[in-house]
Amino acid sequence: MYGRVMAEQAGATQRRYRDEAHAINARDVHFDFDSVPMHYVPGEALATHIVNVMHLVLPEGERAMAQALAEALPHIDDERLREEVTGFIGQETMHANSHEAARRHLQSIGLDVDSYVAKVGWLVDRILGDHGLTGRARDEWLKERLGLFAGMEHYTAVLGEWLLNADILAEKGMHPAMLDLVRWHGAEEVEHRSVVYDAFMHLDGSYARKARTAILASATLLPLFIVSTAYLYRKDPSPDKGRFWGLQFWSATRRGVIPKWTVFITEMPRYLRPGFHPSQLGPMDKALRYLAHSPAARAAHR
Ligand SMILES: [Fe+2]
Ligand SMILES: [Fe+2]
Repeated sequence: MYGRVMAEQAGATQRRYRDEAHAINARDVHFDFDSVPMHYVPGEALATHIVNVMHLVLPEGERAMAQALAEALPHIDDERLREEVTGFIGQETMHANSHEAARRHLQSIGLDVDSYVAKVGWLVDRILGDHGLTGRARDEWLKERLGLFAGMEHYTAVLGEWLLNADILAEKGMHPAMLDLVRWHGAEEVEHRSVVYDAFMHLDGSYARKARTAILASATLLPLFIVSTAYLYRKDPSPDKGRFWGLQFWSATRRGVIPKWTVFITEMPRYLRPGFHPSQLGPMDKALRYLAHSPAARAAHR
């Protein structure tokens, strides 16, 4: 019950951990993107491309994360945490594959992003790969990456919660396959929100590293989202992309079609608070309920 010990040490209540005392396992999901149009959030070109960033840059990051966690496994002697890390690696690999399938579909209907994806892949490998290090340098670099990924996972958990609560996406008529993809992914992000944090604490746990890497994660993700959205919007070949993008951004934020960009700043104090543990985020019930009903996750059981 490693997570419970962590949560107690971190000042969290037992109730919070019991919410999360379930096994984390990859689901063999399947999505049918064939009928997904270019603007799959109807009338919301910019919001669609903000969601598209997930298909564009997440797969490479998730694979790098799965790689780092696989490298961490031999250093983890807690059986429960090992089990969670193994499930986590499987889940992130499925996320990467599913978003890549969505991206291939968008490429096939005219959103030409292959060269950008290749650059992102090269960059992620250069920055977040193992660099062929050995000995102490390898161990230190692994801890640094775990700190960075723990920080990033905080954002994916917070955005996952947002996706599960953004009823407006269904009300706007977002294509059901894309809606299921992002909600299934969001729900699993909530489900496994503690895993990288616990792995980081197990291998290192220094507050200085946690703070430094979290600030770095935040400072990287926001520009990455902005640059990637701008690229996608420019590459969109549709004759009608709606109003000026700045107005779309303001309007979509005001109506809650996209999360507030300030989340990358406002979440920092919570994450950096001494005694913080991801189990202190919102209740997990909604995520687990969604995973029980998600069409793609149900298809995995058949
Ligand atoms: Fe993911
Ligand atoms: Fe994740």
